Amino acid sequence: MLSAILTHSAGHGHRSSRHHVPVLLREAIAALNVQPGGRYIDCTLGSGGHALAILEASSPGGQLLGIDANPAAIVEAQSRLAAHRKDIRLVNDNFVHLRDICYKYEFYPVSGILFDLGLSSRQLEAEDAGFSFQREAPLDMRFGLNQQLTAYDIVNAYTESQLTDIIREYGEDPHARQIARQIVAQRPLHTTFDLVKAVLRATGRPSTRIHPATRTFQAIRIAVNSELVNLSSALVQAIDLLGFGGRLAVISYHSLEDRIVKDLFRQESTGCICPPSVLRCMCGHAPRLRLISKKAIRPSPIEVRANPRSRSAKLRAAERILKLSNGPQG
Ligand SMILES: C[S@@+](CC[C@H](N)C(=O)[O-])C[C@H]1O[C@@H](n2cnc3c(N)ncnc32)[C@H](O)[C@@H]1O
Repeated sequence: MLSAILTHSAGHGHRSSRHHVPVLLREAIAALNVQPGGRYIDCTLGSGGHALAILEASSPGGQLLGIDANPAAIVEAQSRLAAHRKDIRLVNDNFVHLRDICYKYEFYPVSGILFDLGLSSRQLEAEDAGFSFQREAPLDMRFGLNQQLTAYDIVNAYTESQLTDIIREYGEDPHARQIARQIVAQRPLHTTFDLVKAVLRATGRPSTRIHPATRTFQAIRIAVNSELVNLSSALVQAIDLLGFGGRLAVISYHSLEDRIVKDLFRQESTGCICPPSVLRCMCGHAPRLRLISKKAIRPSPIEVRANPRSRSAKLRAAERILKLSNGPQG
């Protein structure tokens, strides 16, 4: 079945595909070391492409817990994974509640956990979600509708200095201050196109391949959904839920996400984490992870050509190991 999903992915561009095209599919399944009878969690179910491949590779006897904040993703995955209905449990929630979800369903320890971050192409193309600067829609950008804060609130109520910080920090945009000034000057902003106009007033017309609104949209989406804080918290919970030998695999799409994954993996795979100035270890920190590959795994040129949305993807994976020591190291 994995080869069937891959063929389908390579043969159709994301626009004509019925489902979101899973990124780094073969690589993610290998990194998770999916085994028959294993117990797996897909924290970002989306259209269920990775989940389906995990279920196929873990058959017979594999089980999968799938989580997504977006109710439409749960509905789509439910029908796509119907053949495996006995082996799945799908939960419409934010992965920041990972530990509670697993305790509730007594789904631990697990053999592997996958995060495939960001948005599905379904969400980007959704009429009313406001994620895309290419589509006129209300300023919403929430992953789950039970959240209160929307992009409208941030854009219309935050101070110029708060907006500057968000666009600089989460969008890494060198024009953050000018964009924030224009957003405040153009209020009230109702739609995605109002926001694009404010950005273009600050930056001028697009001169590069990357549209000037890309970074602002990313920044506001990250702020609306507390994406980085939630990711940091969920990754720590995920490590605790892995059985020994269990794998954690994370596919990220921008440097802010990747830095969080990389730093946590580095910290959890090293022994002493005392500052360099300390001559004798005081922390007693012991590694809980072994890195599967030192460098992030990137999509092949063939995958990027078939699915341009994969171009910024980076996969990092690590294995839970037995803690070797828990006393200060001498
Ligand atoms: C890139 S898509 C996943 C695609 C999926 N791997 C597939 O093969 O179809 C990311 C998904 O993660 C979900 N998501 C993002 N952040 C989330 C969070 N904090 N909690 C739960 N779901 C989240 C989004 O709603 C989206 O459906």
